[in-house]
Amino acid sequence: VIAAVWQSKIRKRHLGRQLLMTSIEQKSECSFICTPGGLARGSIRVPGDKSMSHRSIMLSSIAEGTSYISGFLQGEDSLNTLRSFQAMGVDIKHSEDKVEVKGVGLHGLMQPDSSLDMGNSGTAMRLLLGLLAGQYFDTTLIGDESLSERPMNRVINPLLAMQAKIDSDINGTAPLTVHGNATLTAIDYQLPMASAQVKSCILLAGLYAKGETVVTEPAPTRDHTERMLRGFGCEVETKGAVIKLKGGQTLTATDIEVPADISSAAFFLVAGSISPLGTELTLTHVGINPTRTGVIDILKLMGADITITNQRDVGGEPVADLIVRGANLKGINIPEALVPLAIDEFPVLFIAAACAEGKTTLTGAEELRVKESDRIQVMADGLITLGIDAVPTVDGICIQGGSISGGEVESHGDHRIAMAFSVASIRATDTIKVLDCINVNTSFPGFVDLAISTGIKVNSL
Ligand code: S3P
Repeated sequence: VIAAVWQSKIRKRHLGRQLLMTSIEQKSECSFICTPGGLARGSIRVPGDKSMSHRSIMLSSIAEGTSYISGFLQGEDSLNTLRSFQAMGVDIKHSEDKVEVKGVGLHGLMQPDSSLDMGNSGTAMRLLLGLLAGQYFDTTLIGDESLSERPMNRVINPLLAMQAKIDSDINGTAPLTVHGNATLTAIDYQLPMASAQVKSCILLAGLYAKGETVVTEPAPTRDHTERMLRGFGCEVETKGAVIKLKGGQTLTATDIEVPADISSAAFFLVAGSISPLGTELTLTHVGINPTRTGVIDILKLMGADITITNQRDVGGEPVADLIVRGANLKGINIPEALVPLAIDEFPVLFIAAACAEGKTTLTGAEELRVKESDRIQVMADGLITLGIDAVPTVDGICIQGGSISGGEVESHGDHRIAMAFSVASIRATDTIKVLDCINVNTSFPGFVDLAISTGIKVNSL
């Protein structure tokens, strides 16, 4: 065991050096220059939902038959998932947002020739770990510098309780090696934190486990895994906070239409809200699953003018067009119950808070410290650079609305931080330069062009 841990540490150090070099090269390559005076108006459709795109590849790969996916996010994160399943022998054809997946069934995956690289994606690594725990072969999962520092014990521990065999770095971080031949046993697991990634990891492992897997959530989190499993013909029972799934079920191929990602739409919901009064922007075909709409609720509590229209159901997920108009925002105490329902949207919500009149306080959001970056600290640092009074706390932040100046801010390679500070330029008095923006491609390829098309003055250098 000790030898394995050391080997993994050496591998990680070597990998870390390689990634550091790449990140230094990329850092100087991609900055956003954001000029004041922009606004967000018109009608746009943002790219496909990242969470659903990952899951669409994973579930269709282990289904029986051919599935057709449309609206697939062509971002680096979901493409890493797609490439991983190709590396495990799944025939996947991909052209723009259309993907054809010839499923190999629950036990048809093959051992990849080398490690699977999850890049920047926590979702890919954590969900895949659950799915791989029940295979017959060994697999190693690696990630970039940020992902290699993110906590994995939250998924390793329940999987070990299911009799999976996993090696990690001494700190419970990647690289992770999942050993094959595991005969998984179902567990009844109380999630220690509100995390859809942990819930989904256990449910995917549960497909391979003997018996019925039960997961209880401390608060509702996104339920795309449960909904999509049902779309593939699986029986998943949800009663309040308890989710149950029996192992050994067959998934049957289906067609999936991935809606536009509300987490990407969020940048424009805030951009539209902080645009001059009278400005109107429509975001079309946005997924409005109730486990994801915290951003709309929080913005409305702040006084935003958002209308949900043309609501319809697409493949088991609610979808709508969102109309946002310029408004006078006010500071609020963000209700803790909304935190898991808006977990990815806080960087840009902090920009809304900086533009609001009065104080906005966030608590109960310690999970933000273990995202692609420490989003509480990194956002506080950037806001302070831009002249905003922002005080980080252990589990949140306190932001006093004010006047945003110009300056140079660090995104720390975090896609959502980079896009949030571009949106801030709408209300800035001087140019904002955002450093290290290459990872915007992980979730929102084409962000700069789409933002420019609405009137936001951002350029990529
Ligand atoms: C995700 C769940 C969330 C979110 C992430 C995507 C998912 O993470 O932050 O971007 O697709 O399940 P946690 O469940 O760990 O909060």
